[in-house]
Amino acid sequence: FPDSLVNLVRGHIRDIPDFPSPGILFRDITPLLADGPALQALVDGLAEVYRGRIDAVAGIESRGFILAAPIAATLGIGMITIRKAGRLPGPVIGVDYSLEYGQARIELHPETVVTDSRVLVVDDVLATGGTAAAAASLIEEAGGEVVALGMLLELGFLQGRAALTGRQVDSVLVY
Ligand code: PRP
Ligand code: MG
Repeated sequence: FPDSLVNLVRGHIRDIPDFPSPGILFRDITPLLADGPALQALVDGLAEVYRGRIDAVAGIESRGFILAAPIAATLGIGMITIRKAGRLPGPVIGVDYSLEYGQARIELHPETVVTDSRVLVVDDVLATGGTAAAAASLIEEAGGEVVALGMLLELGFLQGRAALTGRQVDSVLVY
């Protein structure tokens, strides 16, 4: 990503110690979202990196939605919604995966993925990689091609890339 984009993100993240539990340093993106010019530059910058290379943007509920929809709209392509279990009506495909503590499930309307379309999967944070790996597998199960996983922040010390071997992972900022 361009240095301007990296610096923009770095300058608008707030560090919150001991959230959500003692010893955890939470990287808060809300100041970035709340700053209009920064948000616009972020969305435009991310969109330009992928212009012409993707046919759709998949967002992972809920914080991934915040970025996926404006990137898709900027490029004039569709957004695919990957949601937490039980939220989507009608037939879905889903995948169960492990979190640091416990289990989770995400789901997708398979007909929202065009066969052989090039999909960018977007989320705010790559931590252990479980969520991103599950999302990528769902897109592929639905017939799409995952071009890259576009992450705003990557918590490198959690080794999320190990769960994503063989995939293109693009993180604006790595901690
Ligand atoms: C957070 C974050 C990523 C995911 C990363 O979402 O937004 O989606 O965790 O974790 P992983 O790499 O270890 O899988 P969270 O489930 O907290 O929900 P939210 O987006 O609805 O806030
Ligand atoms: Mg999330």
